[in-house]
Amino acid sequence: MISNTRYIELARTYGTPLFVYDADLMLERYNDLFRFIPHEKLNIHYALKANYNPALLTILRDAGAGIDAVSPGEVVLALELGFAPEKIIYTANNMTDAEFDRVMKTGVTVNIGSLSRLKKCAANYPGARICLRFNPDVCDGDNVMTMTGGDLTKFGILLTDADEAKKIADSGNLHIVGLHEHTGSGLQHAESVLKSMDNLMAIATKERFSELEFLDFGGGFKVPYKEDEPRIDYVAMGKQITEKFDGFCKNYGKELLMRFEPGKFLSAECGTLIMEVNTIKHNRSRVIAGCNSGFPQLIRPVLYCAYHRIENLTNPDGEEKLYDVCGNICETGDRFAEQRSLPEIREYDLLAVKNAGAYCYSMGSVYNLRPMPAEVVVHNGNVADFRPALTDQELVAQILRK
Ligand code: LLP
Repeated sequence: MISNTRYIELARTYGTPLFVYDADLMLERYNDLFRFIPHEKLNIHYALKANYNPALLTILRDAGAGIDAVSPGEVVLALELGFAPEKIIYTANNMTDAEFDRVMKTGVTVNIGSLSRLKKCAANYPGARICLRFNPDVCDGDNVMTMTGGDLTKFGILLTDADEAKKIADSGNLHIVGLHEHTGSGLQHAESVLKSMDNLMAIATKERFSELEFLDFGGGFKVPYKEDEPRIDYVAMGKQITEKFDGFCKNYGKELLMRFEPGKFLSAECGTLIMEVNTIKHNRSRVIAGCNSGFPQLIRPVLYCAYHRIENLTNPDGEEKLYDVCGNICETGDRFAEQRSLPEIREYDLLAVKNAGAYCYSMGSVYNLRPMPAEVVVHNGNVADFRPALTDQELVAQILRK
């Protein structure tokens, strides 16, 4: 656990805005999964899209994690960092022929989520080993935009098309070594995970798919974002998951690998964005705390109305008041929190935005031409890595390709 005093120290040393990642917490979460899901053949493939910080990825690699990659760029990064191709699954959607070809050549397992792509694969890569992604037909997630099962989603092959998929695969002698589903991000109900597992396992019969080596049940494990949000009982859930999968393997007649692909669960809580307040102003009844970061650097509140806890690091005991915590971008919606009760904020106070480890830096942009913040990784209690922000000049040089 990084203390608030340490966060202040890091901010003073490296400047703000600053992303700080607690790699020890990330590893604790990684190990938690093996405790919660006591299946002998459990593989965790970290969803790299959540946070691609190379130091964090290296630490996960050393812990034995695999990777869930969703673009050729993510595959290249994972390979460059020394993840073995067989530890990587590529689950892109709407990929081009050229992208598909590039990834097939790396030896990474490709996860195909449409009959169209499957036909092209059967025609052009006879004998290939592939995984098939199905739509689990379960709707869940912390937001409509992050639900990936059910009627409204673009992802996966319909469960009712399983026979058709098999026929197409056979036409190219494809080896279907894995089946996959991903229900959504921030799954609210433990039952959804179990229901999606049931639905995928129902089509995973030996008669239809006789060469399976693994079933991959995606990511989506939720962590609390709000102060009073309860933590899901993952011990109970993991037990149910394990029993279900063991039963399936018995029926199937083979001990398959069980895979999950968590992003948020591993990285959300380990990240904190520290920013400095530079302006306190009033718009009639509203008090605005203006900070030196903005939504391009942490877009979840604006994009999903997501709630991120905020702490006043330098005045934790101040009198509680209501604030609009705003950024430095030229848009009215540039708010980290609206009418949030926080200990009195003064100019030059440091604010910590919590759960900033997943889908924050990785969804960042340089809108308004503000470079993305520096990042610090703390591991075994020490600063293990520092990635400085680009200067304005460096950013402009990139734009001008100087
Ligand atoms: N596997 C697949 C195929 C996925 O599409 C995703 C997330 C994951 C695994 C990891 O899901 P997680 O464990 O992180 O929930 N930007 C959104 C989340 C988008 C998730 C996209 N896919 C957010 O900030 O809430």
